[in-house]
Amino acid sequence: MIVTIERLGHLGHGIAPGPVYVPGTLPGEVVEGTPDGDRLLDPKIITPSVNRVKPPCRHARACGGCQLQHASDAFVSRWKQEVVQTALAGQGLTAEFLPIVTSPARSRRRATLSARRTKGGVLIGFHARASDTIVEIPDCQLLHPGILEAFPGLQALVQTGGSRSTELSLQVTLTRGGPDVVVTGGKPLDAALRMDLARLVEAHGFSRLTWDGETVALRDRPALAMGTAMVVAPPGAFLQATAGGEAALLTAVRQALGPQKRVIDLFSGVGTFTLPLAGEMEVHAVEGDAAMTRALDLAARNTPDLHRISVETRDLFRRPLEPDELRGFTGAVIDPPRAGAEAQTDRLARSDIPVLAAVSCNPVTFARDARVLSDHGYRLDWVRVVDQFRWSTHIELVARLSRA
Ligand SMILES: C[S@@+](CC[C@H](N)C(=O)[O-])C[C@H]1O[C@@H](n2cnc3c(N)ncnc32)[C@H](O)[C@@H]1O
Repeated sequence: MIVTIERLGHLGHGIAPGPVYVPGTLPGEVVEGTPDGDRLLDPKIITPSVNRVKPPCRHARACGGCQLQHASDAFVSRWKQEVVQTALAGQGLTAEFLPIVTSPARSRRRATLSARRTKGGVLIGFHARASDTIVEIPDCQLLHPGILEAFPGLQALVQTGGSRSTELSLQVTLTRGGPDVVVTGGKPLDAALRMDLARLVEAHGFSRLTWDGETVALRDRPALAMGTAMVVAPPGAFLQATAGGEAALLTAVRQALGPQKRVIDLFSGVGTFTLPLAGEMEVHAVEGDAAMTRALDLAARNTPDLHRISVETRDLFRRPLEPDELRGFTGAVIDPPRAGAEAQTDRLARSDIPVLAAVSCNPVTFARDARVLSDHGYRLDWVRVVDQFRWSTHIELVARLSRA
């Protein structure tokens, strides 16, 4: 069967009329393969796209970590922007797009790896596409070299604390004190395992090790710089994927807000935006996770020369800030999880805050919420896509919304 790819789906598959899904292909490509339901097996590309490039990573064929290594950077940037445009159009909205900012290769400072003990040793890597198989990635072009350098230590952790029957998940974050490691799926902790793991943390220079929810070793503070503050985030707490992506988001948020006196940071996390903004303005941070607000509060208290920061732990889905509680803020940052912020957006729409910096990792819920704001008189001034999820289908954006 021969098909022509018309578009990319949200998982990065090429889609031909039918629909027929063909992973690893691009719009305009003519592809031959064996039909299997709505898929095409063993696809051979007869006519390649001008946007096709040789994957920069030698693991790209086997590894499922990246979905779009076969596409040029220019194509991926255009595609990500078009996904946002399409989501907005679905809500009857248009926007000016500021140029995309893409994180460089080898800059992911946080990754969740899969690991398994085997007969011969230890396997650590990413899953192969739609498979349980773990692919080793010694030359990964996505991860920061600091994460790859942590592999010998991670292997030792898995060798010591992994069983052959269960796959482990290793979340690694680069921090000032060394890699901060969160393991799930390890052997149950006992006194001997605790001692062995603590020794490995020391030997391999990890900052902290958390084992199935319990912090078993803290060798050094797993601190992260946010503005002039240093934050020690709770294990596994949300963090922007690359330092460059975080900086680009912050620049766009500052650009959206302009000079302000007093702003509210909704879904603040550990203070990615709150702490740097507090160098210039007063900030009230609201976040649902109490451990994260504690970390933010502590960082704020320990940092001199910031404007006032107040911190509130609150579930913004169930108990959004009401319009009267939003009175007095001259701007708002809102950065919800993928589900968006339906309830809080409804209240913001009825507030008198003149300018919003909306950060989102989901174009569909962003467009839905932007529609509500637009219906209440906010104008969508611009959108900037920040591609910190290079070679993946994830999309992150900042938008400015304002009203007179
Ligand atoms: C996309 S993250 C953004 C965090 C922060 N702005 C940053 O850039 O690091 C979304 C945040 O929303 C928080 N969150 C999720 N559900 C929430 C809820 N129902 N109420 C309040 N916060 C919530 C998460 O804990 C997370 O910190």
